[in-house]
Amino acid sequence: MSKKLAENGNDFCPQSLFLYGTKNEDGTPHFGLFCWFSYISTLTENGEGLGVMACIGEEKLTKDLIRKNGVFSANLVTEELLPLADYYGNISGRENPDKMRHMPTVEQGLKLDVPTIAESPISMELRVQKEIHLTEGSDVFLCEIVAVSMKEELMNKQIPFIDRYLSVMPVLAGGELRYVTADGRDMGHWGEPMQELAEK
Ligand SMILES: Cc1cc2nc3c(=O)[nH]c(=O)nc-3n(C[C@H](O)[C@H](O)[C@H](O)COP(=O)(O)O)c2cc1C
Repeated sequence: MSKKLAENGNDFCPQSLFLYGTKNEDGTPHFGLFCWFSYISTLTENGEGLGVMACIGEEKLTKDLIRKNGVFSANLVTEELLPLADYYGNISGRENPDKMRHMPTVEQGLKLDVPTIAESPISMELRVQKEIHLTEGSDVFLCEIVAVSMKEELMNKQIPFIDRYLSVMPVLAGGELRYVTADGRDMGHWGEPMQELAEK
């Protein structure tokens, strides 16, 4: 055998990170960090389209608000956003009512009533089509992508794709609970980058 049985995990298949933006009942924004996210083909009233599936584990404020509103945003995480993103991923919204004391620059979605993040180069506005309950603390949301907004320079096809991709400086959820950049640099263990926020 050339391979050995290993632990289940995504260690060598890093996943893009997104900040999901939702609105509280009073209209204020809320953010959480997520990586169980991928593209799917969906059928909408407009015909076939590109959608996403988002898996949300145990019950949490982001899940409460997605269920209540039926819409949310997904904002790509970059190196610049990492300390804030790490904080949003390690601090529970239900247990910390003041979680949003650290905030990015918030904008209004272009097509849906969702908060998006100005510092993120790519934001998606998503409408839930279906929630699949797998088991206690595990639900998958199938969503239609209603709008995508991105920094204008990323749309300039005169610049080779790889250069535009690297210019985004995306951070991925790599193996062993570490963050890695798209160009292969280690950005620390989950829970480390957020320490920069406290120092500010
Ligand atoms: C790197 C990273 C990735 C995460 N990805 C997910 C995910 O895909 N699904 C999930 O349910 N929780 C995920 N979490 C945990 C949530 O971010 C965490 O539960 C957070 O408290 C959610 O915010 P909220 O409590 O304000 O809703 C992740 C956390 C980290 C640090």
